[in-house]
Amino acid sequence: MGILSKLFKKPKTDAVFETTSPNGRLKIVFVIEHGEMSYYVRKDDKIIVKRSTLGLELRGERSFEHGMSVVRAFNRQFDETWEAYWGEEHYIRNNYSETVIYLEEVIKPARLLTLRFRAYDDGVAFRYEIPVQPQMSRLVITEELTEFAFNSNDRSWSIPAYQPDRYEYCYTEKPVFDLRDSVHTPMTVLTTDGFYVAVHEAALYNYGGMTLKMNKRALQADITPLSDGTKAHVSLPFSTPWRMMIVAENPLDLTTSRLMLNLNPAPREDFSWVKPIKFLGIWWAMFVGEWTWALGDRHGATTEHAKEYIDACVRLGISGLLIEGWNDGWEGDWLQNGVNNKFLDPTPDFDLDEVCNYAKEKGVEIVGHHETVGFVDNYEEQIDNAYKYMRDHGVKYIKSGYAGSRMVINGQREYHHSQLGVMHYQYALELAAKYGIMLDVHEPIKSTGIERTWPNLMTREGARGQEYEGGGLTPSHTCFLPYTRLLAGGMDYTSGIFDVGNPTKRIATTVTRQIAYYVTIYSGMQMAADRPRFYEENFPDLFEFIRNLPTSWERTLPLVGEIGKSYVVARQAWNSQDWYVGGVTNEDGRRVMLNFDFLEEGSSYKAKLYRDSDDAHYRDNQLGHVVEEKVLRRGDKLEVYMAPGGGFALEIHKY
Ligand code: NOJ
Ligand code: CA
Repeated sequence: MGILSKLFKKPKTDAVFETTSPNGRLKIVFVIEHGEMSYYVRKDDKIIVKRSTLGLELRGERSFEHGMSVVRAFNRQFDETWEAYWGEEHYIRNNYSETVIYLEEVIKPARLLTLRFRAYDDGVAFRYEIPVQPQMSRLVITEELTEFAFNSNDRSWSIPAYQPDRYEYCYTEKPVFDLRDSVHTPMTVLTTDGFYVAVHEAALYNYGGMTLKMNKRALQADITPLSDGTKAHVSLPFSTPWRMMIVAENPLDLTTSRLMLNLNPAPREDFSWVKPIKFLGIWWAMFVGEWTWALGDRHGATTEHAKEYIDACVRLGISGLLIEGWNDGWEGDWLQNGVNNKFLDPTPDFDLDEVCNYAKEKGVEIVGHHETVGFVDNYEEQIDNAYKYMRDHGVKYIKSGYAGSRMVINGQREYHHSQLGVMHYQYALELAAKYGIMLDVHEPIKSTGIERTWPNLMTREGARGQEYEGGGLTPSHTCFLPYTRLLAGGMDYTSGIFDVGNPTKRIATTVTRQIAYYVTIYSGMQMAADRPRFYEENFPDLFEFIRNLPTSWERTLPLVGEIGKSYVVARQAWNSQDWYVGGVTNEDGRRVMLNFDFLEEGSSYKAKLYRDSDDAHYRDNQLGHVVEEKVLRRGDKLEVYMAPGGGFALEIHKY
């Protein structure tokens, strides 16, 4: 490993420092000019991000903005391959060049700031670090001055920030200059030179989530404020999250970048107890109005229903069962009344001991449920005992929820993605790890790759999921997700609804597309979201795919795709030679040519293709599908048709 360290005799107020990716093609360049800090990004001879300002504004102190000088710079190369506990890739290469720039103010009190830059072959990143220093021990950050200067005509895909439904919005395409209102990350840009760039952050701890907004000349980091209007209260030493940009030459290469995970440290403890799972749920019946969350005649979470569903898990070969609405407090309009939610008190018609004993006897894992409705104060009073209570009942998985447009923390209304929100999610995650609990967080803080460090964070929602069907979704939505939200990791989309024509919630899908989602949308906890009878009685043929589906992948290989139009991906099962392929299209029908170059030379594979029938359509022929058996070898080609709003799934087993 080459190490280069330079201590300058005279601090530099004008200088340029390049950090170059291992393959030499991508550069992030730090420029200090008359004491002002900026950076730009280039690939080969093309500028990807133009000169962009760096800096932090502080309360009651001069900002880190002007009058800076470089006193020392340090460069090193790093290369490792690490093994994941679960996920989309078993072994991940982490290979970068890093430059650390030590800065000092020119005038007294000569405060210190460090900037750390990294260049990978698939992207760049940087962060601010404020070391311990005599003049300061605590700081209030009021603004981050970080810019991402794209050309104003570059195209972008994003969802709006600061909205009542958090991250649960549809993606829209806009020229960058149109982003006058803040948008969430990951935000994807297509530059006029044809590069695909995803701007996001990694390792978000103890700080507000970053949104992006146009200032007069560039997109600027707009850190989610606290209710007092400031951005973060921190003590030193402090590091901001990484500001990262994946840089790719086509949209599919964005999806295979592991930059976000690589920017997070390895876990400090052993997490080999963590295990991905598939689960059914006492759940969709509530969405279609058959059952209710709240106590009453049609209450879903009864002891009897739970036992019936546990039996269904056994028959269907699904190892987990989620039970929602089991606890006291879900009275009437639960969005209003969530402040009453009690996490240690089952409803009178639900016997948790009996249900858990029955599940244990049958070898089924219970996925417990904590709907906080965002009342964090109420939840934090109970959370330690509530986790313990679940663990005492043998429950190792919990789905949590934070419905509501704001959180209530310390009696104040705070954004979910503010520093206090981030701190709550982190507290819950670390406590869960202590109790050996794995989490599926709904209405979460977005993923910034902390699941590398905390692998008990199995999945999140954090995007518009299938619960919005019945009017709130079009087929293109799940063709945007792979190139935007899913760049930040797994999502509990709640796939596998076969009751697609239900008048209460009609779904813009063909039935085949529902199983394709299990491959196109990764999740460490995969829900088979419909009621068991739709699997056992209506579509046992399609259900077979869900039953066979692995929950972790050795390797992920996207095959075909365009943002908002289609996505086809092949995934190799963890520690296996079997492959699964899934494809989805938007409102347009589409034929795709699959090329089986990824299969092993000389081997034969038994394959099963689940596809839309030629006359299938997400509006008026949702059920039309065909299941065909095939024999495949390396080098074979296969043309597959996806109906409008449809898709396909393919399982490939080595003989
Ligand atoms: C919204 C979640 O996304 C959904 O999965 C859950 O059932 C409801 N909140 C109730 O907690
Ligand atoms: Ca939700």
